[in-house]
Amino acid sequence: MRGGRVLDLLRRGLPSQKSNFWLTVDGQSCSRSMASATTCAVLSELPPKVSDNLPSDMLVDSFGRFHNYLRISLTERCNLRCQYCMPAEGVELTPKAELLSHDEIIRLANLFVTSGVDKIRLTGGEPTIRKDIEDICSSLSNLKGLRTLAMTTNGIVLSKKLPRLKDCGLNAINISLDTLVPAKFEFMTRRKGHQMVMESINTAVELGYNPVKINCVVMRGLNDDEIYDFVEMTREKPINVRFIEFMPFDGNVWNVKKLVPYAEMLDRVRQWFKNVERCKDHPTDTAKNFKIKDYCGTISFITSMTEHFCAGCNRLRLLADGNFKVCLFGPSEVSLRDPLRAGVDDLVLKEIIGAAVKRKKAAHAGMFDLAKTANRPMIHIGG
Ligand code: GTP
Ligand code: 5AD
Ligand code: SF4
Repeated sequence: MRGGRVLDLLRRGLPSQKSNFWLTVDGQSCSRSMASATTCAVLSELPPKVSDNLPSDMLVDSFGRFHNYLRISLTERCNLRCQYCMPAEGVELTPKAELLSHDEIIRLANLFVTSGVDKIRLTGGEPTIRKDIEDICSSLSNLKGLRTLAMTTNGIVLSKKLPRLKDCGLNAINISLDTLVPAKFEFMTRRKGHQMVMESINTAVELGYNPVKINCVVMRGLNDDEIYDFVEMTREKPINVRFIEFMPFDGNVWNVKKLVPYAEMLDRVRQWFKNVERCKDHPTDTAKNFKIKDYCGTISFITSMTEHFCAGCNRLRLLADGNFKVCLFGPSEVSLRDPLRAGVDDLVLKEIIGAAVKRKKAAHAGMFDLAKTANRPMIHIGG
């Protein structure tokens, strides 16, 4: 019964995600920038299909949601200090010996992929500062049944590393960029590096990543005057700019006054741009997708605070210290590293994972409760 429901859910997801996004939305493709992405074939996430591996009950929660998307945080370290992510005083780092090794990550990832996970996103801290990042990508992309290997990165050292990462199987990329003003970048991230991030975005486009997603956390009084300029980035290039509502995490001094709600952001965009088209979203999307008519790229809004999207959630998280987290905002975590190091077999690990998934709540708490709930700082969770 459950397996049937899962297969049904997967099948209903069939015709969509990126194909809606880039082709069926307006029946056009991005000819101008595809022409500029000359160095290789266009890279994009493969459209979802029934996984090569039979979906396992382990990944179905008590609300019938099937979790085919695993986010793996590779490190708690970062070469930036974004104010909305890192407390000013920094965070306590887990000793290296307590972080998952390459082999442990692959063993756990294999367990998820053979159970039906077909998309893995690497996060951090900043994933590119992990020394064995290429090996991790190669090993993960060799897992049979994995269709999308993605990364969310701040782009500081990406330009140099991306060609090799692409060869190692990385086929989707999200880059964080909150401002187009170099001095403001330094203020928001407490570090220099704006130019390097811009170069990384261009490299990703040139290498054929399509779309190159740009994550822009919008904060009132800080960068909300740049929404227009960010939308303009989508004119010529296959870029998807995602305007993200500022979310509360431990140590990031969240305040409702700094939040710019989705409705307000969209309103402003509609005032400037007359032909704003709504695109079709996939049921598991965190983003509400739009497009300016005749622009090559798209814009989206991630509305965690004002319109949560928990009903379609398909995400699970493995943290750098081996803790398993079923919800970005849920404080409950269970260690997979400890039983793994104690020598248990895959069956036991699957039971632990399955039990945690079954405890997943229907939705996260409301905005003001979230601000009061203890959670890790974002730098530990990786988004
Ligand atoms: P895609 O896989 O390309 O859809 O990317 P993504 O949006 O899942 O991941 P990314 O790491 O680029 O995160 C963009 C924003 O979405 C960040 O602010 C994340 O914290 C937020 N986000 C990612 N997953 C979740 C989630 O499960 N719930 C909520 N509320 N926000 C999420
Ligand atoms: N609110 C919203 N998004 C955040 N991110 C980090 N901290 C926050 C926050 N407080 C985003 C980053 C990165 C992604 C992993 O999460 O911009 O792109
Ligand atoms: Fe580093 Fe990303 Fe956090 Fe900024 S948001 S401090 S780049 S992990």
